[in-house]
Amino acid sequence: HTYRIVIPAAGAGKRMGADRNKLMLTLRNRSIIEWTLDVFEQDPACLEIILAINPAEQSWFEGITTPYKTPIRLVPGGRERQESVQRGLEALTEPGIVLIHDGARPFVTIASIQQVVEAAERTGAAILGVPIKDTVKRIDGDTIVETVPREQLMAAQTPQAFKLETIRSIHAKAATEFLGTDDASLIEWDGGTVTWVTGQYENIKVTTPDDLLFGEAILTKRGK
Ligand code: CTP
Ligand code: MG
Repeated sequence: HTYRIVIPAAGAGKRMGADRNKLMLTLRNRSIIEWTLDVFEQDPACLEIILAINPAEQSWFEGITTPYKTPIRLVPGGRERQESVQRGLEALTEPGIVLIHDGARPFVTIASIQQVVEAAERTGAAILGVPIKDTVKRIDGDTIVETVPREQLMAAQTPQAFKLETIRSIHAKAATEFLGTDDASLIEWDGGTVTWVTGQYENIKVTTPDDLLFGEAILTKRGK
């Protein structure tokens, strides 16, 4: 069940409020993007990594990616995550399964990766997700409109896995017509079906400063 992977890493990390791309921040003396790349380096099913980066950060990324054995290609990202992913997909030509994974999710496991790859081989499109823990309400300003039944909700994660030809052509079509915050939403917009596989709560997206504390706790739990 081999695959290639596009990792968008070209964001600014505004919600983290640091003075640089949050992926350069360290947990246990290793940058967040290195923790993420380490997972795919350890997975023999991962044939190649396309890393979408901010060209202003090219030399930093060249430095950290040099030691990896898995082939890593750096491509220029775009203003939005969706544009970064699209540019990464355009760099791929070999047919097969492609994964799209946030550079900011360093705690995904190889077991979860295998499950989402196998689901995409069966159905064409699959993502990881976890059941929502909180009660979720729709709001209007400071007023509650309604409570959304939790049984119908899940929190979407990455990796998201697709047949390359499918997701690449939908990304090209969506570029001028639809902007989503994940890649499955483009398939949904196009009328396609996406399956989901239960992931792990530890697969957080490092987004705000308190996620750095959660991240340290996850590494402690894993004995890293
Ligand atoms: N990303 C990207 N290109 C962009 C925006 C985001 O490649 N133009 C990447 C980020 O680097 C990250 C992933 O997409 O790995 C998920 O995005 P997010 O968590 O929102 O990261 P940022 O956009 O960097 O953070 P923020 O939204 O707080 O600015
Ligand atoms: Mg963002």
